[in-house]
Amino acid sequence: MQVVTQVDALPVHAGGVLVPTMGALHAGHTALIQHAAAIADGRPVIVSVFVNPTQFAPGEDLDRYPRSLERDVAMTEAAGGTVVFTPSVKTMYPDGIPDRFAPLPKVARRPGLEDAHRPHFFHGVCLAVKRLFDLVQPSAAVFGEKDYQQLLVVREMVHLLAMNIEIVSVPTVREDDGLAMSSRNRYLSTSERSSALSLWAALRAANGKATITEAEQAMMDELAPVDAVDYAVIRDARTLLPVDDEPEPSVPLRALIAAQVGPARLIDNQVVRLTNT
Ligand code: PAF
Repeated sequence: MQVVTQVDALPVHAGGVLVPTMGALHAGHTALIQHAAAIADGRPVIVSVFVNPTQFAPGEDLDRYPRSLERDVAMTEAAGGTVVFTPSVKTMYPDGIPDRFAPLPKVARRPGLEDAHRPHFFHGVCLAVKRLFDLVQPSAAVFGEKDYQQLLVVREMVHLLAMNIEIVSVPTVREDDGLAMSSRNRYLSTSERSSALSLWAALRAANGKATITEAEQAMMDELAPVDAVDYAVIRDARTLLPVDDEPEPSVPLRALIAAQVGPARLIDNQVVRLTNT
């Protein structure tokens, strides 16, 4: 197992499978690394650990974001990763910290989703992921469906920039009771954690309704225990655009939620089926 901070110390400079992370690894990351190892076919599996300042706004949790490099390295090794790459801020942003990414993929800007609440966020994600892609030059990169809008943003960015990198997605890993794995779950007290379960309940409650309005109302009803709901909506899973209230059966639907529970802003999403889809 190698831990490298300099890109020129990576064992193979191009063609590996990259798993970008901000560290504080949990079982969700383990699934990403295991998947990367399963498809690697001899390519190195590089897990990057970089707490990316450009995706945090002032006042967000950059300073208290959990850091556990020693444990991350052990978990990477156990999951079949070959290298942990921990670039410094200087390596990532040699000309200083930029605040914009252009062209920002259109899917980053969908009304009412992340951009409406964290306008800096996808600029930061694209800045970090593009830079990691340039440094590591992977042939494939693995992302979790837990950050569903991020997954679509990265796919669109790769397409816009004609980068020859396969973007591979892995389903969300959940605790036994349904809570989606997240590094931010560790901010939750016992009672907040039980309120957080309402996100999973809400995603399930959206199923089997006749219309989008009914399904979104069912989600809001389930979300009563959380402190604030940023969004709880159903969108076209391919574009994240809003859909008709009674969409054609052929339209794939995704329910997406962001909610504040105590000190943690949590997101989750799931495929949804209405009565006719
Ligand atoms: O999903 C994350 O952990 C981050 O947004 C990512 C993709 C590593 C970019 O900093």
